[in-house]
Amino acid sequence: MDSINLLLRSKEYHIQNKRKKEKNMRINSNYENLEQSYLFSTIAKKVNEYISNNPDKKVIRLGIGDVTKPLCKAVISALHKAVDEMGVQETFRGYGPEQGYDFLREAVKKYYSQRNVELDMDEIFISDGAKSDVGNILDLFDSSNKVLVPDPVYPVYVDTNIMAGREVIFADANGDNGFLPMPDKSVKADIIYICSPNNPTGAVYNKEQLRAWVEYAKENNSIILFDAAYECFVSDENLPRSIYEIEGAKECAIEFCSLSKTAGFTGTRCGYTIVPRALGALNKMWLRRQTTKFNGVPYIVQRGAEAVFTEEGQKEIKENIDYYMANAKIISETLEKCGIWHVGGKHSPYIWLKCPNNMNSWDFFDYLLKEAQIVGTPGAGFGRNGECYFRLTSFGSKENTIEAMNRFEKLFG
Ligand code: MLT
Repeated sequence: MDSINLLLRSKEYHIQNKRKKEKNMRINSNYENLEQSYLFSTIAKKVNEYISNNPDKKVIRLGIGDVTKPLCKAVISALHKAVDEMGVQETFRGYGPEQGYDFLREAVKKYYSQRNVELDMDEIFISDGAKSDVGNILDLFDSSNKVLVPDPVYPVYVDTNIMAGREVIFADANGDNGFLPMPDKSVKADIIYICSPNNPTGAVYNKEQLRAWVEYAKENNSIILFDAAYECFVSDENLPRSIYEIEGAKECAIEFCSLSKTAGFTGTRCGYTIVPRALGALNKMWLRRQTTKFNGVPYIVQRGAEAVFTEEGQKEIKENIDYYMANAKIISETLEKCGIWHVGGKHSPYIWLKCPNNMNSWDFFDYLLKEAQIVGTPGAGFGRNGECYFRLTSFGSKENTIEAMNRFEKLFG
């Protein structure tokens, strides 16, 4: 009797255990392969800790590329008008088109055509910023694709692919190639990221160089994900601001852009992604993805974004861009005086410097915070090749930039 009972109980145990196992959800274990926290969250945590231990010190933040100038007048008045429309029965809007309102897509289309890039309306997708779309676009690609990422570069490209379990390989960017890696024919990649002007180094590809990437992508049947978030900082007319300025790029590239840095929309959130029809199924797939997972950018924000592309808006944002570029000059001149090697700051709001005294990036971060209360971004956070480099942003106020550089000069001058 006892042995029968034992047998039954053991069977029951096994069935229950099996059910338990079947019920257990499985987490995405790819997350285990990520750094413990996102670069800019790690920095924010360190800075907050420093501030709470040193409440009397004035910390100057030249770390994350967050703008400080307020939205321009044209944008503000468009936002106000749109807010009022939302309070009136006749002009109230509910769900909008997931791809964005026609008025904003028209404005983007016109903006591109000024640089002789002709787009169809259904190739333009309004988004809440480049960061989200750069990550979300990966829904369209199989996880078996091999991804080529420049090193150093914006960490989101690597992290989002690691989350999806894709193999990531790197194209070395360094002093020897002017931080602009070129395609290596012996390397085969399916998805290629290009960020130009580059975050963090500020390096910009010229047309010849971009053409080489387009040719490589076409030969290998790969796709280029082109991040143009900093295009508005390119002041040399001969340098490309969109990959579509290169012939044939529509057949191999998706482009992401954002109003975050262009027009101070880091907190307002609006950008656009171009998925050319020449890419075949991808255009329809992206529409399918967006209509399923995204309800569009708020009408009010899109009206504000539309104002960026008006004559008045363009003039006003140019003033802000010039202001930031003047800060870049102040930073650059100080580094020059201190004899510190640096690049960037010409066509980009970022200055990329070699850490003084052979310090590594995170040691220099701690040193600068402790000794001068300046926050920058450790180059190592952008990839292995960023080790011993450091990034400063020109998005601070002029007063803070001057003060930070005075402190810097006292330490290294
Ligand atoms: C940066 O500092 O690299 C950027 O501001 C981050 C971002 O745009 O998400």
